[in-house]
Amino acid sequence: MCGIIGYVGDEAAAPFLVKALKNLEYRGYDSAGIATICNGKVCAEKDVGKLEQVCGTHDLHGLPGNVGIGHVRWATHGDVTQANAHPHFDCKRQIAVVHNGIVENYQDLRTALECNHRFVSQTDTEVIPHLIEEYMDAGASLEQAVLQASKQLKGCYAFAAVSVKEPDKIVATRRESPLVVGSNAHRSFIASDALAFLEETNRVVFLEDGELVVLSKDITFLDNDGKPVKKDFKEVDWKWDQATKQGYDYFMMKEILEEPQAIRRATMQDRKLLLEMAIGILRSKQVVITACGTSRFAALVGRYLFSRLAGKFCDVIMASEFQYFSDSVDRNTLVIAVSQSGETADVIQGVKRAKENGATVYSMVNTVGSSLARMSDSVLYLNCGPEIGVAATKTFVSQLALFYLLSFTMANKLDDGLHDLLAICPKIEENVTKNNKKLQILAQKTRDKNDFYYIARGINFAIALEGALKMKEISYVHAEGMPAGELKHGTLALIERGTPVVVVCPNDYTYEETIANAHETKARGAFVIGLSEETHPIFDDWVVIPDVDEIFQPLVTVVPLQLLAYYSALTRGRDPDKPRNLAKSVTVK
Ligand code: AGP
Repeated sequence: MCGIIGYVGDEAAAPFLVKALKNLEYRGYDSAGIATICNGKVCAEKDVGKLEQVCGTHDLHGLPGNVGIGHVRWATHGDVTQANAHPHFDCKRQIAVVHNGIVENYQDLRTALECNHRFVSQTDTEVIPHLIEEYMDAGASLEQAVLQASKQLKGCYAFAAVSVKEPDKIVATRRESPLVVGSNAHRSFIASDALAFLEETNRVVFLEDGELVVLSKDITFLDNDGKPVKKDFKEVDWKWDQATKQGYDYFMMKEILEEPQAIRRATMQDRKLLLEMAIGILRSKQVVITACGTSRFAALVGRYLFSRLAGKFCDVIMASEFQYFSDSVDRNTLVIAVSQSGETADVIQGVKRAKENGATVYSMVNTVGSSLARMSDSVLYLNCGPEIGVAATKTFVSQLALFYLLSFTMANKLDDGLHDLLAICPKIEENVTKNNKKLQILAQKTRDKNDFYYIARGINFAIALEGALKMKEISYVHAEGMPAGELKHGTLALIERGTPVVVVCPNDYTYEETIANAHETKARGAFVIGLSEETHPIFDDWVVIPDVDEIFQPLVTVVPLQLLAYYSALTRGRDPDKPRNLAKSVTVK
């Protein structure tokens, strides 16, 4: 979480920094700031609030100088205050630093530094400029000081530093937090994500753990001993305008409407790679899928597909818990890590542990060049373009599409499977048109309800979980999803008159039993919202879904639930793209 940016070029840095931070705001939006170097001084502005608010009260655009760094924050250490906003400075305000990650040993470092240094924030970050100050005061260059300071830090970080003593450069380094360098003829950037500067250049280099980059007129890469390393720029094929709203009020709506296209793009895979991975899965003694949040729900659907289409059983483990199973992970284990960002710290940590134990790692990732992609033995890319809304929507259906491809390949039915999968896309498009108004009305109708329950069975069970996650994440409403059969084992006690219960019940082999569970809630006064091809007398409200083969149902049941959450957020005055307390890329554990 947090986004960092750095710029060196032949024009004023500030306008580029502000524009880049706008593109990074999905990573954090509780405060923002930038620092530039000009006439032997660090010039800086920072404050709490979204970037737009900070720009409204401070002249970020007007900061002088052609070298600068910037930050959007998602608070980990210290409240959301101006003092805790980045950049942070040394005692003499000659050095400025922006940081993404967590310095785990900051308290020890701070205690040691406090006898000679004055701290003004509660953040872990502030130890970094003071450490750099120590080394520079002892005669080190900025890059030597950054290198030595980084060796003192425990935890994960990507940070960038500027100093008035070496005013033409930025030095940046990383460990376990992303950092990418971009460059064209006139300007160079470092950022947490290439999206930040994609409008300027798509030529990028990803930094490896421990590497440093010195950005000035030239770009130099150093290894963790300070020795120069050669790194080649490559082009990323994302287009910067994919990361703009293109006329929509919110990214989330744009991204929901892009889902059919996302599925089509996910199917564009190298068949040889698919076959190799499918064989790898079938031959593995033990297959574990690991992921967090929405990606984990895609994995739960994937588990059904592996089992139903290819008779291959596997387990799905929450990435934050995966490391505690490392005793059972060895060279006979195949780990499939699913993460749209490819930077989720819990996933990276679990995968690292599994690799240490000799496991093979496959991954499904959207962000090309992300940490997870680079540490995997084989990668399938979602290919759906950048997803900016914090709520995962199009990446979820893309992940499902990849699980379909793998499962059909494992069953030796890829061509038929592909044909059937692509036939679902127009059905999703038609269904959105059909349900759009209805879901707005439903969101209005339920706007005073603060507890929602979502139930389903079989392959749709994970969709109940996803529907509930979307609702709580962007509407701030309590919502729980569960297998319909679990209700009576406790949760039924919470159903009262008028409690909304969303019943996902396509007309398949789970229908009768799910309807029976819906009856149990109705008998306690529930307001039953049914998702099915046909209405049923028990439904107080009915959301129609297209009639598709049972294995494809998750693709059509999830979309109305995303829209219900979206309209509920709007009805309740929430910003669906930037829900409170959350960030898109969860790079802390
Ligand atoms: C989804 O709407 C959430 N924002 C969140 O649960 C997300 O899916 C999770 O943090 C995992 O992210 P990843 O796919 O980038 O690893």
